[in-house]
Amino acid sequence: MWHIQAQICQHGFVVLFFLLPLPGKGADSPPTPGYTLSAQSVLVASGLCVEIPCTFTVPAGSTLSTRVTGIWRRTGTPDIVAASTEASMVSNGTKGRFTLTGKVQEGNCSFSISNAQPADQGIYEFLIEDESHKYSYSRNHLSVTVTDLLEPTISPVGELIAGKPITLTCTAHPAPQGCKGNITWGGRINIENISNYEREDQAGKVTSISDITVTPSQREHNSPLTCTVTYSGVSTNSSITLDVQYPPSMTITVPGYNGTYENKSVAVIEGDTKRLRCEVNSNPVADVSWWRGDGILIATSGQGLTLVLENVSVADGVTYTCLARNTHGSVSGTVSVTVASLTHDKKINHLIILMIRGLSILALSGIIAVPAVLVMRCREKRRQRQAEDNPKSSPENYEVAYCNTE
Ligand SMILES: *[C@@H]1O[C@H](CO)[C@@H](O)[C@H](O)[C@H]1NC(C)=O
Ligand SMILES: *[C@@H]1O[C@H](CO)[C@@H](O)[C@H](O)[C@H]1NC(C)=O
Ligand SMILES: *[C@@H]1O[C@H](CO)[C@@H](O)[C@H](O)[C@H]1NC(C)=O
Ligand SMILES: *[C@@H]1O[C@H](CO)[C@@H](O)[C@H](O)[C@H]1NC(C)=O
Ligand SMILES: *[C@@H]1O[C@H](CO)[C@@H](O)[C@H](O)[C@H]1NC(C)=O
Ligand SMILES: *[C@@H]1O[C@H](CO)[C@@H](O)[C@H](O)[C@H]1NC(C)=O
Ligand SMILES: *[C@@H]1O[C@H](CO)[C@@H](O)[C@H](O)[C@H]1NC(C)=O
Ligand SMILES: *[C@@H]1O[C@H](CO)[C@@H](O)[C@H](O)[C@H]1NC(C)=O
Repeated sequence: MWHIQAQICQHGFVVLFFLLPLPGKGADSPPTPGYTLSAQSVLVASGLCVEIPCTFTVPAGSTLSTRVTGIWRRTGTPDIVAASTEASMVSNGTKGRFTLTGKVQEGNCSFSISNAQPADQGIYEFLIEDESHKYSYSRNHLSVTVTDLLEPTISPVGELIAGKPITLTCTAHPAPQGCKGNITWGGRINIENISNYEREDQAGKVTSISDITVTPSQREHNSPLTCTVTYSGVSTNSSITLDVQYPPSMTITVPGYNGTYENKSVAVIEGDTKRLRCEVNSNPVADVSWWRGDGILIATSGQGLTLVLENVSVADGVTYTCLARNTHGSVSGTVSVTVASLTHDKKINHLIILMIRGLSILALSGIIAVPAVLVMRCREKRRQRQAEDNPKSSPENYEVAYCNTE
């Protein structure tokens, strides 16, 4: 068939419809002298646009009339995707998105695709129909590959420090001038300044960029920041989780007491156990320690530390300090522990005082006081023994302590 067509063309005859090569067979046939087409296969991101430069030639001696029609169609199908005339022939799927932009009469077969769809991926071929020519450039397949629309990038993802202004940049992927995107930001953080601009590369692709100035605070730690690029019809976004660094803050709690206990005083009964809980909120993690005067009691690196005061004695009635420190600062809080002797002890003390007074009176009255004291001591010894049998009974323990010190 190609031979016949070539012969006819050499003789300058009108090209006949039935001489067109059958779809898919053209590539196997030898080229027809004089008919050349030059276009490069393209990649286009879904939703974006692409301009495909293309030129073609017809054999020397033949000319294209003003009525020449250029057609792009999907190889192997009758689907016309773009034509220089008679737009009604164009298949619905590509109508308005594929455009033959070149002047066919000048041998320009350039076309453009806008808002590319995954279904646009395929192989296309160019045809001309003129009074004296009808030719399919099916040896010169043009392949269109539709890629995923790429997300923008946000940088830096580096150190955000509470209270320090920082610039974050969102960069869209390069897009042709005809379908460049708009950048918008979303998130909880307050944007103090925004600057949108673009950079054009040598190939004419435009990179949209947006710089924002923010001053992060602890409130925004772990919150998302999103950058969205909107193209005509599609949008893509990317998000980062803000990692805001801040100095430690502290809450001291004491079980049995409501609220917080920084710089407050806690009354503890002698012999009791008290837990002083120091909760720390910081980023990065703080070094936390409990101090008694200049001496460190315990230390850790983390979100909190509990100081356990066991079997407190009167000597433990001092001020305890919790100290938390990270690279951005430090904080401290204190708890003053006051150790109360048992009220029971006080009663006994009081009793003894009364007794001594009583004894004096009795002595004056001539009654022997010694047996009474012995009876008292015996009772205390008995309680002591009971206490040793049952050491968990704390009131008894205090009595024991009292007796021992006697
Ligand atoms: C395009 O769609 C219209 C209406 O939806 C229909 O009448 C027409 O035949 C379609 N054309 C093609 C080429 O599919
Ligand atoms: C072909 O047409 C396109 C679209 O009008 C134009 O940008 C391009 O420069 C033309 N190419 C030539 C070689 O004239
Ligand atoms: C925002 O940034 C621009 C350019 O960097 C600067 O000229 C302008 O003063 C800034 N505006 C504010 C409110 O900081
Ligand atoms: C981008 O923003 C400009 C100005 O805000 C607007 O005119 C244009 O329509 C927007 N483009 C898209 C694709 O949203
Ligand atoms: C970001 O994109 C994803 C998927 O493309 C979408 O589900 C999400 O709603 C978008 N987020 C924003 C803030 O636009
Ligand atoms: C703590 O507060 C709750 C209610 O706020 C109250 O019922 C409780 O008695 C308080 N406990 C102490 C030890 O103050
Ligand atoms: C506790 O005392 C320290 C030192 O006086 C002070 O810096 C800190 O703010 C106080 N904390 C509270 C919660 O009052
Ligand atoms: C509590 O402390 C006292 C004096 O410091 C000691 O004699 C006693 O054995 C302690 N009790 C317990 C249960 O550790």
